[in-house]
Amino acid sequence: MAKLAKLDDIVSLCKRRGFIFQSSEIYGGLASCYDYGPLGVELKRNVREAWWKDVVRMRDDVVGLDCSILMHPLVWKSSGHADKFADLVTVCKKCNTRTRVDHLEDHADEHTEHVPVETALVDAADLDKKVCPNCKTVGKFSEPMAFKLMFETQMGANADDTMTLFLRPETAQGIFANFRNVMDSTRVKIPFGIAQIGKSFRNEVTTKAFIFRTREFEQAELEFFCKPGTDEEWYEHWKQRRFQWYIDHGIKAENLRFRDHDPDELAHYAKACVDVEYKFPFGSGDWQELEGIANRTDFDLRQHQRGMRTINDWHEAGGDLQKITLKDEDPEYFKGPLSYFDEQAKERYIPYVIEPSAGIDRSTLAFLVDAYDEEEVDGKTRNVLRFHPTIAPVKAAVFPLVKKHGMPEFATKIANDLKSSFSCFYDQKGAIGRRYRRQDEAGTPYCITVDGDSMEDNTVTLRERDSMEQTRVSADQLKSLLIEKLGL
Ligand code: GAP
Repeated sequence: MAKLAKLDDIVSLCKRRGFIFQSSEIYGGLASCYDYGPLGVELKRNVREAWWKDVVRMRDDVVGLDCSILMHPLVWKSSGHADKFADLVTVCKKCNTRTRVDHLEDHADEHTEHVPVETALVDAADLDKKVCPNCKTVGKFSEPMAFKLMFETQMGANADDTMTLFLRPETAQGIFANFRNVMDSTRVKIPFGIAQIGKSFRNEVTTKAFIFRTREFEQAELEFFCKPGTDEEWYEHWKQRRFQWYIDHGIKAENLRFRDHDPDELAHYAKACVDVEYKFPFGSGDWQELEGIANRTDFDLRQHQRGMRTINDWHEAGGDLQKITLKDEDPEYFKGPLSYFDEQAKERYIPYVIEPSAGIDRSTLAFLVDAYDEEEVDGKTRNVLRFHPTIAPVKAAVFPLVKKHGMPEFATKIANDLKSSFSCFYDQKGAIGRRYRRQDEAGTPYCITVDGDSMEDNTVTLRERDSMEQTRVSADQLKSLLIEKLGL
């Protein structure tokens, strides 16, 4: 039976084997920022590509996009982030630790990404019963206050033309801002989706649990535009499709579940929202959000139409977002610049949006946790990452048994041939058993060993990671056999 991974085991393996390092470690580290090492970068790239393949490449109704991180400030006024994207926080009077009000008391609340400030205010009423998570003091908290989550930066070289911009806190808004461009430059017809993978930034109050919640992270988001009235059907479609994606890529079904948002927990724009949760090995509640799937209705496109009408006010206010309010909606909003004309039905409307929003780093953590295993083999502990072949950073490793008798040359030739089709690692250092163990720990599904017999009969040993079974195969058929076994 697979061993349940502890977060400490994962963190230590990630550092030891070069999956993930603390950012700026040589300077003592930068809190909640992480760097992906040689194995981690391949792993994360595979997660990203598996998402892109399923959501974009395999479908005729989804196109891709890659927007800039810095966008016009009005984008964030229209989306609501400039005014509302904040956590309600309080400071412990004893130890000065700042904590999100909705994170106080018990960890069961950890599934909450960002509770609307209004909701958190209700919870704040009984702060005197809550416990500081740092020093455990009860009821000694400051008046709650809103803490803005968007990072600010300045654009422009001259003092008189600098403009305050925000690092995007989600990739979704770049998609809404380009809805018209995509419509005008492609032949997409509703229902269709626009997908994007990219970095997002949030000045999170509570960061924790390794790469689970960080201040710089990568999102994979799809905004799927559909006709109002068909939205519930598409919501169901994406809900099932996204859940299945995790299972198809190796996550055990028993570690995944759906959690519907309660009506009072729903974001103001959402008609429905469900989280795909994973049983992460931290927090008392264990189950934590992996991905959110929301029915965002026509909220965002309508808001951007209001924003577009506000541009002159923004110029007049010298670019100060605080000094402007969004223009009222045009009563004919459904005919606005972000509307869609349905040729067949001869009607114009603002599409509804279904949004599956996943975290690439958070998914990477789930894949690591789910793959982690320890077992006793010949009285020794074998650490193994049982990655699905699509996700595994290295697909195969090739070893010469010894560094002589032409074996290194034979093995190098095989490795180079395999590299043209998938990631392959060549290793000739150390005892063969130890080389196998290193690849088990990296999650490499197959190892190939060239030995004395290979030189005679052109065969090699193929060793399978999970069963450790070894078979003899022809070197000529190795590549096609591996491609088949890896499902590439
Ligand atoms: N556009 C919708 C949106 O951004 P969200 O629930 O705030 O929704 C979606 O974020 C996903 O992005 C989450 O389910 C999670 O996987 C990932 N995510 C959000 N904040 C994160 C953070 N601080 N660190 C790592 N991943 C994060």
